[in-house]
Amino acid sequence: MGKKPYYITTPIYYPSDKLHIGHSYTTVAADTMARYKRMRGYDVMFLTGTDEHGQKIEKVASANGTTPKAYVDNIVDWVKDLWKTMDISYDKFIRTTDKEHEITVQKIFKELYDKGDIYKDAYEGWYCTPCESFFTERQLEDGKCPDCGRPVDKIKEEAYFFKLSKYQDQLIEYIESHEEFIQPKTRQNEMLNNFLRPGLEDLCVSRTSFSWGIPVEFDKGHVVYVWLDALSNYISALGYLSEDDEKYKKYWPADVHLVGKEIVRFHTIIWPAMLMALNLPLPKQVFGHGWLVIDGGKMSKSKGNVVDPKILVDRYGSDAIRYFLMREIAFGQDGNFTNEVLIQRINSDLANDLGNLVSRTVAMIKKYFDDDFPTEFKSTEYDSEVEKMAVETVQKVENVMEQMFFSDALIEIWNLVRRTNKYIDETRPWVLAKEEDNKAVLANVLYHLAENLRIISILIEPFMPNTPKIMREQLGITDDKIVNWDSSKEWGILPKKIKVNSGNIIFPRIDIKKELEDLEKAQKANVEVKDEPVNEEDFISIDDFSKVELKVGEVIECNKVEGADKLLVSKIKIGEEVRQIVSGIAKSYSPEEMIGKKVVVVTNLKPVKLRGVLSEGMILAASHKKKLVLATVDNDIKSGAIVR
Ligand code: MSP
Repeated sequence: MGKKPYYITTPIYYPSDKLHIGHSYTTVAADTMARYKRMRGYDVMFLTGTDEHGQKIEKVASANGTTPKAYVDNIVDWVKDLWKTMDISYDKFIRTTDKEHEITVQKIFKELYDKGDIYKDAYEGWYCTPCESFFTERQLEDGKCPDCGRPVDKIKEEAYFFKLSKYQDQLIEYIESHEEFIQPKTRQNEMLNNFLRPGLEDLCVSRTSFSWGIPVEFDKGHVVYVWLDALSNYISALGYLSEDDEKYKKYWPADVHLVGKEIVRFHTIIWPAMLMALNLPLPKQVFGHGWLVIDGGKMSKSKGNVVDPKILVDRYGSDAIRYFLMREIAFGQDGNFTNEVLIQRINSDLANDLGNLVSRTVAMIKKYFDDDFPTEFKSTEYDSEVEKMAVETVQKVENVMEQMFFSDALIEIWNLVRRTNKYIDETRPWVLAKEEDNKAVLANVLYHLAENLRIISILIEPFMPNTPKIMREQLGITDDKIVNWDSSKEWGILPKKIKVNSGNIIFPRIDIKKELEDLEKAQKANVEVKDEPVNEEDFISIDDFSKVELKVGEVIECNKVEGADKLLVSKIKIGEEVRQIVSGIAKSYSPEEMIGKKVVVVTNLKPVKLRGVLSEGMILAASHKKKLVLATVDNDIKSGAIVR
């Protein structure tokens, strides 16, 4: 019988810039799963690649004084090199500038047009270039992109539209009847409640105001909207609508699309609707994982907090970084990244727990028996527990891996590592070694250690592709048949005559204080030498900023504005002067609460009348969703003080 196919994908990355450690998180997760499935006997197709068209790439290339293709070629080489250093075992790397992909996208577009699911009209609305997303006025948050918070551009152009609205009911029904389709479950509710049930609008799927995209074959002034182009990669990579569609027939529908939480919407609404329109089966699952965050926020170049994975891999090796990524973040949730947490993890889990277990085992076998490992064993009272735990761990790992709970799998494996270390303390081989009579007990103890390490080496292999080889080399394991996945379920198949080879420590302990300093220096140096393109529109100059006059004011009187349930009118003392200011904060603050507050006021705004009430400035407040919190000063300072 042939192997069962398993198709897993990562999103295809924008090569607008080098990728950061957050991007490698998705790819490492997909790689771990791909390796696991291969070990379980599946015929795996693991796809990754780059999403190279669109306005964002066109802009960044032009800011760098080059063509989009030349610009992305450079970054794509860098990306491929990154995946090599991180041991990413993809089966295909697709670029949306690949000719075959472009042809398939054109065919898909035409098919949808012929079917009447794509039609021509005029588009007027907002566009977020970094997210390559359209928004209606009502979807914006404070006039900004609701996804990334950056400014949006108003666009008005002739365009083709995809009848997304037509598939709304079908999508709702599909999602409701296929619990496994959107994972984790919270994302499913989010899609249904926030997007599908309130109603879908048709989607603009072509652009005319720039040219870096796949031309619409029958209307050359238009290029295909980058998300329609990008999502098609999952089937174009398999040869869909091409002469050779063997792979498509074998692997589609995908078993899982792994995506970050902010693009779940594209993968669970637009993509399935496209597939429905093409009469194709939907992917079995879309898994929306959380982000790797720094101080609670997403990594981003404009915040200057991106972490270069190459520097980390260079210093600690790919296995350590892969371990950290998969261990630190409960899959589906956000996880925090700091250099310190990374180094602590390497020290505690890799150097201490696993590293020590390997080096102690190898060193003791070498010292006590070297070339002459006894075959007579005598058991101890602790044996059955460690044997049982090893076998049970394999079962537990299998269960959680099926749900892609990578950190849970590592927690289980490390429980076994720690339990095996404890077995050394319980049996005290160094005491046993003192009496010749205890030789059989000592041999039995050391065999238990080596055998558990054999099993551990198998379990960690999807996560850490290099370490198992070193462990086996040191333990003298040469027979491949005892390191395949199924062999981890059998305790005691390691041949009794063990012959170890001394080797290097697998994870040297890191001097945390010194390393933190060195690492920060390396990271800073890397940022400084980078010749990063600056997107001028993302910044204002200091002169722009200094036009805004900000002062501390004290609220001395506050009342509701009649007939306006969101507005409060306050009298604010700013130095010697008292101003009247109307603000939309009545849902978050009562007039009584306002009295005595020291707030930050924009004092040189042109006075306006709101609901007929004069307002001579603006009180600053932070807003999230519907919640508003006043910007106040941290310490007591007299009203009228300038804020800058
Ligand atoms: N090009 C689109 C995807 C098209 S798929 C048909 C895109 N590209 S991206 O480069 O912006 O992001 C690719 C993936 O990286 C996304 O899944 C995103 O969630 C993930 N990540 C980017 N920053 C991340 C973190 N800080 N942490 C975890 N994942 C992050 O979107």
